Amino acid sequence: MGEELKGIILAGGLGSRLWPLTKVTNKHLLPVYDKPMIYYPIETLCAAGIRDIMLVTGGQSAGDFLRLLGNGADFGLKQLYYAHQEGEGGIAAALRLCEGFADGEPIVVVLGDNLLEDDIAPYVRKFESQKRGARLLLKEVDDPERFGVAELSDGRIARIEEKPASPKSRYAVTGVYMYDARVFEFIEGLSPSQRGELEITDVNNRYIEEGALYYDVLDGWWTDAGTFESLFRATQLIAASREAGGT
Ligand code: G1P
Repeated sequence: MGEELKGIILAGGLGSRLWPLTKVTNKHLLPVYDKPMIYYPIETLCAAGIRDIMLVTGGQSAGDFLRLLGNGADFGLKQLYYAHQEGEGGIAAALRLCEGFADGEPIVVVLGDNLLEDDIAPYVRKFESQKRGARLLLKEVDDPERFGVAELSDGRIARIEEKPASPKSRYAVTGVYMYDARVFEFIEGLSPSQRGELEITDVNNRYIEEGALYYDVLDGWWTDAGTFESLFRATQLIAASREAGGT
């Protein structure tokens, strides 16, 4: 691939699982220990050397992101790009808004409520050395039914199921997705799921059909922060890593 990678952070949604915390603000502006949640995915991308970043958000608090983050100077960025998502279309619908920004280049997408311990730089470098396709990061978890779950076979992902009642493995698909330019073509071909959203899992399954989906398994901790339990856990994990000397 060789081109400069672009980063995308998806920070829309109603945050309904965190009601009433999200009644007057966006989930991604809530605190996780000593920083607003949205700081963590930005730091994840910056640590991997990604400097071209677009943030997608929406809803009544959209303007607060601009006031909080500005042009990204706190993260050493010269410029931060924004896209506005109307309504609730799902992750893939939010990503679709970034087609012009991506401009045919490969992208690294991070969900705004995903926090991880590992530096993703080594995985991003592996993605860069791929000629085509997509790369996902998996994590073994105790509650896979809350996530997209990867069915593994012969060292490949055979299929991903979104929040299955009977998960075929304990490998959750984390909210870090690396895609070549075909992702936008695959999004165009999607139909809304039962929950009325364009599912990122359907995009990933299209890459599997093309034989072009690769993955790594995270060593360190990973969590989302979209429920009371996971938001609390995220805060505990960050607090513990601060105590251990992390940033
Ligand atoms: C989304 C994805 C799911 C993924 C998860 C990671 O779920 O649909 O596949 O495992 O993010 O955080 P959501 O939390 O939006 O329901």
